[in-house]
Amino acid sequence: MRVLVIGSGGREHALVWKLSQSRRVRDIYALPGNGGISDLAQIVDIDSKDLNGIVEFVKRESIDLTIVGPEAPLTEGIVDLFKENGLRIFGPSKDAARLESSKVFAKEFMQEEKIPTADFKIFSDYNQAKKYLREQQFPKIIKADGLCGGKGVFVVESLTEAENALDRIMNQKIFDAAGDTVIIEECLFGEEVSIIAISDGENIVPLASSQDHKRIYEGDRGPNTGGMGAYSPAPAAEGEVFDKVINKVLKPTILGMKKRAAPFKGVLYAGIMVVNDKPYVLEFNVRFGDPETQAILPRMETDIVDLLEASIDGNLSGFNIEWKDKSSLSIVLASGGYPGSYEKNKEISGLKEAAAIDDILVFHAGTVKKEDSIGVRYFTAGGRVLNVTALGDNIREAKERAYRAAGLISFENIYYRRDISDRALKGEV
Ligand code: AMP
Ligand code: GLY
Repeated sequence: MRVLVIGSGGREHALVWKLSQSRRVRDIYALPGNGGISDLAQIVDIDSKDLNGIVEFVKRESIDLTIVGPEAPLTEGIVDLFKENGLRIFGPSKDAARLESSKVFAKEFMQEEKIPTADFKIFSDYNQAKKYLREQQFPKIIKADGLCGGKGVFVVESLTEAENALDRIMNQKIFDAAGDTVIIEECLFGEEVSIIAISDGENIVPLASSQDHKRIYEGDRGPNTGGMGAYSPAPAAEGEVFDKVINKVLKPTILGMKKRAAPFKGVLYAGIMVVNDKPYVLEFNVRFGDPETQAILPRMETDIVDLLEASIDGNLSGFNIEWKDKSSLSIVLASGGYPGSYEKNKEISGLKEAAAIDDILVFHAGTVKKEDSIGVRYFTAGGRVLNVTALGDNIREAKERAYRAAGLISFENIYYRRDISDRALKGEV
């Protein structure tokens, strides 16, 4: 079969890698892809915003299955467009994708379905929001309603910080219309984990649990990022907590979306805060996590095409995913300065040496490949550059192996956290 993957990050490289292992996949195409993906897939030169152009390409090349990495094409309705054209695609409809594209929709949905989440209030009027803030204790969380590229959430420690965030979102419109409405919610303190599941609109099959590391600096300090490293399974999300997320969060969500005539097919990612063994939803995403996917997929034995097709065809009931009895850990190697400004176009060395270590996979995120008289070389092209993933008999072993491999890779101003999984290893979570 011929498969197209849309996206350009480490998550998409992991998906392409997993697809390349499938006995059912012959040709892989990627749009726009990255340096590492171009080693496994043919790069398609179409703008990922050009949904009609993508449909034409899929028809012309007789692509059998399309998989979408990032949320933007899903919230723009790529799945609906493919269906109108009789094409096969994995993911939620535009309506179902509102669980991620509108935080107000998601919060009201959770309230109606009694899904545990932080208490909140919604404001479309700046003055009313400001008045409400004056009566509050801090810290509080202020969220813009719409998609903001992962930057729309402010943890505010004082009234001054809160007013400043509110002014930027609602008056200065730093996120344009995505900030027309805001949510002000209680700040939860606990352990953040990711539970990602696949649904066919009725049934859900959870993937292995994982934990991301969102802050840029060690010890979970500094600004939030797209994610600096992940490991799987995550002890904080196992056992009773996992079962509670399935029964109190994921199942009611799938049922609730069906009731609203927006059945949810695709990846349902619950960002969870575990507080005293109780899970609360921080956010829903309607796509695979990044970097969680780079840690989860290397553990999966099952052919991913079977899983994704069962979601599309409504056949997930009784579907069993086989997992390797191993732990995995993935480190994000970033450009110095990220998530602020950083330089690009630095040559990357040591990739082959790192990949030569047993049970190591190096997934590319912001990279480009250049071929000239010197040979094939890879250069940095983004903030998060590479994901070094290792498997091991336990987290400790995976960690040791991943850091050994990461140490062989270099580029100017390389930065990565040295403490991925440390809290789990110390038994703190
Ligand atoms: P979100 O995009 O809603 O997941 O928010 C981004 C990040 O902000 C989350 O990954 C959490 O680290 C943090 N966050 C969001 N909501 C809350 C909350 N109610 N309490 C504490 N932290 C939060
Ligand atoms: N790792 C966080 C996310 O994918 O949104």
